[in-house]
Amino acid sequence: MKWKKFAFEVVDSTNKVAVDYSIGSVIVAETQTNGRGRYGHTWVSDKGNLYLSAVLKTYGTQTPLLAFVIAVAVAETLSEFGVVVQLKWPNDVLLDGGKLAGILLEQSDEKLIVGIGINCVSCPVGLPYPAVHLNGKVSIVELQTLILQQLDKWICLFEKNGFLSIYHKWKEYAIGIGKNIVVRLPNETLTGIFRDLSESGALILELPDNTVKYVTAGVVFFENERNEYE
Ligand code: BTN
Repeated sequence: MKWKKFAFEVVDSTNKVAVDYSIGSVIVAETQTNGRGRYGHTWVSDKGNLYLSAVLKTYGTQTPLLAFVIAVAVAETLSEFGVVVQLKWPNDVLLDGGKLAGILLEQSDEKLIVGIGINCVSCPVGLPYPAVHLNGKVSIVELQTLILQQLDKWICLFEKNGFLSIYHKWKEYAIGIGKNIVVRLPNETLTGIFRDLSESGALILELPDNTVKYVTAGVVFFENERNEYE
């Protein structure tokens, strides 16, 4: 993919701006006035952090798998800078248990907008979950360049070899497999053991009655974690 980068000082949300650009475009901004997080939450977007949205094509029923592709690309980028992150299902990027980066996938007709926010120099305080930043040890411009390379690499692998190549890499970074977790679904909350990632990206949850449930969407909490967004 030959990316075409458009840089702005201020936008409301790079994801929102990206919708009007063609596939292969990348929108970056120094700040966002209305950064979007998952579940309709706000992504606080002070200057000094990375805000980037890439416009991709969609992949039919496989589109949700891009969550893992992008998470792996971000994790691999950070590891090039010596920052070893963990991935929490499906695509939270954690460093020492705190949230370092957020990924938001939004579909608009035939486009998939992939939004990435990385806390380079600051993170909001008072969030209902721990957040961390990189203490300025990585330059935003270098980070942008490497992310685009890694996105390209992992999207190509996904297109060529399917999800399995991503699946194995994601599991190398995964946090929580084998642990007791709580999964909040739209209409219920389940507790169980996170047994594995399925080859179709579902979280395999072993329930207390030893039955197994494949979870395809939900929010995961580890034991002792305060409930995010509650
Ligand atoms: C999350 O809640 O974990 C996802 C946060 C995603 C934030 C990024 S910052 C760049 C892009 N533009 C947005 O408005 N959101 C994403």
